[in-house]
Amino acid sequence: MSVLVNPSMIRFSPQPLNVNHRKPPQQQPRQDLAEIIATHLSSEWLRPVAEHSRAAFDCVHRRVDDSTAPLIIDSCCGTGDSTRNLALAFPDALVLGIDKSEHRLARHRTSSNENYLILRADVNDFWRLAAEAGWQPAQHFLLYPNPYPKASQFRKRWYGSPAFSALINLGGLLTMRTNWSVYAEEFVLALNAAGFQAGGRQLFDAKPITAFETKYKERGDSLFEVVCDLGQVALSAN
Ligand SMILES: C[S@@+](CC[C@H](N)C(=O)[O-])C[C@H]1O[C@@H](n2cnc3c(N)ncnc32)[C@H](O)[C@@H]1O
Repeated sequence: MSVLVNPSMIRFSPQPLNVNHRKPPQQQPRQDLAEIIATHLSSEWLRPVAEHSRAAFDCVHRRVDDSTAPLIIDSCCGTGDSTRNLALAFPDALVLGIDKSEHRLARHRTSSNENYLILRADVNDFWRLAAEAGWQPAQHFLLYPNPYPKASQFRKRWYGSPAFSALINLGGLLTMRTNWSVYAEEFVLALNAAGFQAGGRQLFDAKPITAFETKYKERGDSLFEVVCDLGQVALSAN
């Protein structure tokens, strides 16, 4: 699988999000996004790391440390279809899929590939533990995260939460995909606000690699991808 990076930020064509809530989804990027990002990046995140997260991290720590293969993290992997597909696409890498849902992970369809692992863990903790342990993923995938489309839910989105600094600290070539144009636009703006260049594009003919991607394609949703090299030296933010 090749990951195309478009270095110029494109304006995503607006895409109505298919949600059954009384309140309409947010229509455009939030005006104060840069200030929220700046606040998160300049504050210490005091939320303690849960013991169950440490235990989950310990389950894979040795395997990752002992591996000389490039590490690919597939965060919020759901049923792990993408983890399996990434392992096939990058046979020389070690791919680690992480999701907090036991139910989704239980639906994982295994393959004979031995270069991937699936782990149940909360990435809010896992990202911090991995960065503290000095892990340097070559690539990090965050595919179809929950969009939380109402304006009032902004702080639940990954870039609107304190977890965003943990995600950035982990580094690697980050690929995020979504079926909501506003999420993609805000993700690029958040990365820019943190001092990183990011490219965005609409995906037209990509073969689906995740369960949600398959579902969205089947119902005709537009799909968007944001790519950012978090290993680049951050530009100084204003
Ligand atoms: C919309 S689903 C997408 C799953 C998969 N990436 C796909 O495209 O099929 C979002 C996933 O994020 C997971 N998730 C949400 N918050 C998480 C967290 N804090 N830690 C780990 N996984 C989380 C959910 O359990 C769910 O499987």
